[in-house]
Amino acid sequence: MKFLPELFENNRRWAAAMTRDDPDFFRRLVDQQAPRYLWIGCADSRVPANEIVGLLPGELFVHRNVANRVGHTDFNCLSVLQYAVDVLGVEHVIVCGHYGCGGVAAALSDGRHGLVDNWIEPIRAHYARVRDAFPPEATERERLDRMCELNVVEQVRNVCRTTVVRDAWGRGQPLAVHGWIYRLDNGLLHDLGVTRTGARTEG
Ligand code: CO
Repeated sequence: MKFLPELFENNRRWAAAMTRDDPDFFRRLVDQQAPRYLWIGCADSRVPANEIVGLLPGELFVHRNVANRVGHTDFNCLSVLQYAVDVLGVEHVIVCGHYGCGGVAAALSDGRHGLVDNWIEPIRAHYARVRDAFPPEATERERLDRMCELNVVEQVRNVCRTTVVRDAWGRGQPLAVHGWIYRLDNGLLHDLGVTRTGARTEG
């Protein structure tokens, strides 16, 4: 019995289309990957990294988790970051969140959502620190979307504080860290304007 035959059929069509114009496409990728970008994004199925930015296999190194978090004890994320920066030598780390993020929404709401509540606890704590600065008339939707943006800014900061990035900057390696957000309702990216290209003098 074959499981999910439609996905294998899709895959055969995709591989054939990829090699139609460029017969050596996959053979070249066997020997090396040389992406210029690391994408740290949400696991949400509506935010597929490569498609959004129009990049082919081999062009984007990707790490995704719920609510695009970067934690200093997350060896999954840190291992990806170190490999991308130290071995692949990516020039850009892109933290990309999205409006209407379910992980961020869960952090802003009461009640239990399961194991994920532990994962998003830092976002809940972040919201507790900043919620008083939100306009009192802000709707739930506006709070969520603003928090989705602030979460990206926070994760950019976290990336910059990792030993991986601080060491890269310390040895003069060119590396920019960007914060972007994606709109589900129109498919467009927005740069939050928090790009960092080196260590700040203040803590
Ligand atoms: Co999300």
